[in-house]
Amino acid sequence: MDKDKIKSFAEKVYGDMAGAMAMGMAYIGVEKGLFRAMAGKGAMTSADVVAASALQPRYVEEWLAGMTAAGYLEYDPDATTFQLPDEYSYLLASEGTDHFMGGLFHFAPVALSIAPKVADAFENGGGVKFEECGPECVKALDLMNSGQYEQRLPSYWLAQMPDVVERLEAGGRVLDVGCGVGRVATTIAKAIPDAIVIGLDPDRESIRQAREAASAAGLGERVTFVANTTRDYEAEEPFDLITAFDCVHDFAEPVATLEEVRSLLSPEGTLFIVEPRAGDRLEENIHPLGAVYYGFSLFHCMTQSLANGGPGLGTCMGPAKTEALVRQAGFSRFERLGIRSQTHLFYAAKT
Ligand SMILES: C[S@@+](CC[C@H](N)C(=O)[O-])C[C@H]1O[C@@H](n2cnc3c(N)ncnc32)[C@H](O)[C@@H]1O
Repeated sequence: MDKDKIKSFAEKVYGDMAGAMAMGMAYIGVEKGLFRAMAGKGAMTSADVVAASALQPRYVEEWLAGMTAAGYLEYDPDATTFQLPDEYSYLLASEGTDHFMGGLFHFAPVALSIAPKVADAFENGGGVKFEECGPECVKALDLMNSGQYEQRLPSYWLAQMPDVVERLEAGGRVLDVGCGVGRVATTIAKAIPDAIVIGLDPDRESIRQAREAASAAGLGERVTFVANTTRDYEAEEPFDLITAFDCVHDFAEPVATLEEVRSLLSPEGTLFIVEPRAGDRLEENIHPLGAVYYGFSLFHCMTQSLANGGPGLGTCMGPAKTEALVRQAGFSRFERLGIRSQTHLFYAAKT
């Protein structure tokens, strides 16, 4: 055996464990406002951070040490001060923007908390249902994507489909399938006030949160949320746009659901699909984002589809499989859109 190879792999394993611990510490940093308390403040002593965050001194002290060891903070041993560089706070203390990365920290503990159940499923089959992942999971999914949806959906993504926007501005109808907490629906409703917007999701907790958020944003009258699947949903009229963000790979019956989606579209209507950015072949996904997505798949996407008797397509479904499913569901036109994103792929399909 190559001893250097053993040594460097052991270092990698420590590095991965460090990454897992950093996720947990950074979760606290976002959840308890520690990154916010340090953003733009320059060098701070532990006492400064305690004062700025109003949190328990000993916890803050250990968190500062841990985040320093993990490379999230810069430390000056002479002055015993800690600094969150502006470049880091751009990513960590920027909730609501399209560059906020803190949603990942929320998803990590949720995903890993179901690892024992997933391990059982390796042996016994089945999986872990979406609703078993709890309200924290719903919140984490929203935190990971909401900034991008709010900042990019109307101004950049929808703008690639001017015919769709025109129809919505003339009072057209939008259905967001797998709407989660409704961020896509409320974002479209805000941007296009004349559009009629409906969000649909079988998860009752997500729909509860969606209704609550829409009413807090003053959109309660303009957006309707329905706790249902497309199978049992009876629309009053066909839709000009149906969006399916980050959910086609989750479906337990992907072709049947896409067929139902097709039947809900008007003849000129568009299905707009957003999926995680992954290649069709494993060798295209051997990089950190690939590892993140395969982890999401095992601890969430694939397992919840398998739990419902589905095929468990997985987070890294890729463009070829997406097109095959859409065409199998009877759509005649399928196009991969040239929207740039480090994390997502975009497709439009027509009946
Ligand atoms: C990863 S979440 C994405 C939520 C939201 N679209 C977003 O991008 O933040 C996937 C969602 O798909 C929903 N879902 C799963 N199967 C579904 C189905 N057959 N019909 C509609 N929604 C479904 C889940 O309940 C969940 O809310």
